[in-house]
Amino acid sequence: MSISSPLRPADSGVRSGPPRQGGDPPVRLPPGPGPGRERSGSALPGQGTWRSLPCPRSAPVLTTDLAAVRENVRTVLSHTDAAVMAVVKADGYGGGAVETAWAALAAGATWLGVTSIEEALTLRAAGLTGVPVLSWLNPVHADFAAAVGAGVDLAVPSRQHLRAVGSAASPGEPARVHLFLDTGMARDGADPDEWPGLCRAARVEQDLGRIRVVGVMGHLPCADTPGSVRDTAALALFERGVRQATDAGLRPEHRHLAATAATLTDRRSQHTMCRIGAGLVGIDPSGTVPLRQAMSLTAPLVLVREVAPGTPVGYGSTWQAPRATRLGLVALGYADGIPRQASGRAAVLVGGRRRPVVGAVSMDQFVVDLGSHDPVAPADADGAGGRETPGATVVVFGPGDDGEPTVQEWARWCGTIAHEIITGLGPRVVRAVVDDGQGGE
Ligand SMILES: Cc1ncc(COP(=O)(O)O)c(C=O)c1O
Repeated sequence: MSISSPLRPADSGVRSGPPRQGGDPPVRLPPGPGPGRERSGSALPGQGTWRSLPCPRSAPVLTTDLAAVRENVRTVLSHTDAAVMAVVKADGYGGGAVETAWAALAAGATWLGVTSIEEALTLRAAGLTGVPVLSWLNPVHADFAAAVGAGVDLAVPSRQHLRAVGSAASPGEPARVHLFLDTGMARDGADPDEWPGLCRAARVEQDLGRIRVVGVMGHLPCADTPGSVRDTAALALFERGVRQATDAGLRPEHRHLAATAATLTDRRSQHTMCRIGAGLVGIDPSGTVPLRQAMSLTAPLVLVREVAPGTPVGYGSTWQAPRATRLGLVALGYADGIPRQASGRAAVLVGGRRRPVVGAVSMDQFVVDLGSHDPVAPADADGAGGRETPGATVVVFGPGDDGEPTVQEWARWCGTIAHEIITGLGPRVVRAVVDDGQGGE
């Protein structure tokens, strides 16, 4: 397995892409793999533009396995006949929006979803030019004209947004709009009481040629608890919202409500499209479908030192060595997204063994208890790190195949969800992608 760094596609070409949704532009993919760089039949577009880099040994690295992303998209597609929108907001949940997007499209996703217009324009600038992209969270003064110019679909949650988006469209180029209904979160989306008025106003804007309503969307509040009564109510609210849009004379071809958890657990939620974010990287918030963990976080051991019984560790001396032991230092802290709550609860894999995080996690570092002696473990695949010595690779989380903790375990230890752990990693963590070509294709 080699670590790769994405390069911009050299040029773009049109390929026979995934099935088209009525009226949407064809999916345009960059050229296929170059000779010798990827085996034929690989589903990853643009693979020929990836090159190997030496593993950055001195920095912490978050590695995203693109083969796992592809496999997860195929797993999701096996649960639905609806189109899959690959949600790559927050830089692809921390692992790289562009790389994750290409992998998801290669496996059959046909849409991309992000929150801000800036994120959408980043995808366009990276060569993702033909695929429909939806941006759903923008203030009223956002640069809607730039979005329309780049062919980015826009979610509209209010009449103010509708006016702003309508005025950003140019003659002959209406803004493509997804009306966003709040289905029970009192968060983004229009209040159900204001929805019929929003639909009527959208019809007027559409008749003026300023917008085209191509979608209606909602979001489920409790999908990680399958069978929740709140989601049953949300489903009914959404279906009523679609009827009200139709009553206003709108004919949105895309109706989308479900994210990862609902898609995997409740076919009624799927409608014509599912928005999959966490599932791309192997997180099923409902915990019902085994997906392949795509992300691994590693860092080198900086120091190893022997300490006497009673030695206090870290701020507040919250842990004292119960015996003579060795302590390992890892240069990752809460500024890098390692929650302080991990102190005394979490573990990492060092030299093939789980070692507990001890003492308070600091801003830049945490300490692990390596035990009283260094058991000689076999060297790992890249020839180092088998021993618990400075420079050895510490696996903070990964797929769990070799006994390393998973991101779900980290979430449990820290009293949060896996999404927060992966998206909270800071800029000092180097991002890398691997593609071992496996993943079920
Ligand atoms: C509106 C909306 N749709 C889809 C998603 C993707 O959800 P998930 O990551 O659970 O697939 C999110 C994530 O927060 C969201 O806010």
